[in-house]
Amino acid sequence: MPGVGYDEPMDSACAPMPEVVFPGGECRPALGLGTWRMGERRAQRAAEVAALRAAFEIGWRVVDTAEMYGEGGAEEVIGEALAAALRAGLAREQVFIVSKAYPHHASRAGLLDACARSRRRLRLDVIDLYLLHWRGGVPLAQTLAGFAELQRRGWIRRWGVSNFDVADMEELLALAGADDPESGCAANQVCYSLGRRGVEFDLLPWQRARGLPLMAYCPVDQGALAGAGAPAALHAVARRHGATPAQVALAALLAKPGVLAIPKAASERHLRENLGAAALARALDDADRAALDRAFPPPRHKHALAIV
Ligand SMILES: NC(=O)c1ccc[n+]([C@@H]2O[C@H](COP(=O)([O-])OP(=O)(O)OC[C@H]3O[C@@H](n4cnc5c(N)ncnc54)[C@H](OP(=O)(O)O)[C@@H]3O)[C@@H](O)[C@H]2O)c1
Repeated sequence: MPGVGYDEPMDSACAPMPEVVFPGGECRPALGLGTWRMGERRAQRAAEVAALRAAFEIGWRVVDTAEMYGEGGAEEVIGEALAAALRAGLAREQVFIVSKAYPHHASRAGLLDACARSRRRLRLDVIDLYLLHWRGGVPLAQTLAGFAELQRRGWIRRWGVSNFDVADMEELLALAGADDPESGCAANQVCYSLGRRGVEFDLLPWQRARGLPLMAYCPVDQGALAGAGAPAALHAVARRHGATPAQVALAALLAKPGVLAIPKAASERHLRENLGAAALARALDDADRAALDRAFPPPRHKHALAIV
């Protein structure tokens, strides 16, 4: 796939790119880039910035990070690469940057401080989607008050949560304003891959029914569903399409409405390969789905939410 620069719409790079629709109608690509384990080592910094710059150049438009990743280091890597991409012609509105706050920063005052630090490291005035990384001891109502204040100040556009199962989501959406399409919860990010399909039983349909995108983390099971060592079923489906196991693993998620998968990749080769999953998502047929279901059976009962 050739590089596309910044003038081209995303879907010319990897047509047809599936999209998710956030509450209120905002559409974004259903494939985003994870950044866990980035920003941890000074010696890797230049290579990581180069990888992120390549990612923006070849068409990645959604990036997921957290204050936890490299204790701010991943946000700094993104900030440096994004600043360069914006100088080179990428428009700010073309990208959708997601970050997360630690649960111990989830009070109203704690969120203001944490978000200020994340904005500074990301070199952004506004974070597009700001998530509570996982549920901790701070009452949800206080966290919501913090998110509301961040929106009022224009520091974040949207907020959401991560590692919330159905019961947590029900409790959350019962709070005042949490289900507002413009200013309420916009997404829940959870572990979801072909190897861990538990959310298909209840959480995914629950979120779909409410128009809340499910962000799928660890979508290639931290590398176990990619490369030569991937399960045979992935190789078999990949061969039918001239694709790779990682592309099949990602395409299987992208084919599900309301799912935004965020594979992490630190090399241009993996970045290009994973972007190619978008086209495959629409090419998977009934025989492929049946083969994948045999190898990775869908859940028949409630599973505890997988947490990594
Ligand atoms: N909300 C949460 O609690 C939470 C928890 C975990 C993760 N996350 C987010 O979700 C993102 C994804 O999860 P993850 O990073 O844990 O796991 P992942 O995306 O499933 O797997 C990443 C690993 O797979 C490798 N890989 C990716 N594409 C490949 C390809 N085409 N061929 C071969 N290997 C490939 C990567 O290698 P290279 O790096 O060498 O390219 C890396 O080692 C994270 O980065 C983070 O942003 C969120």
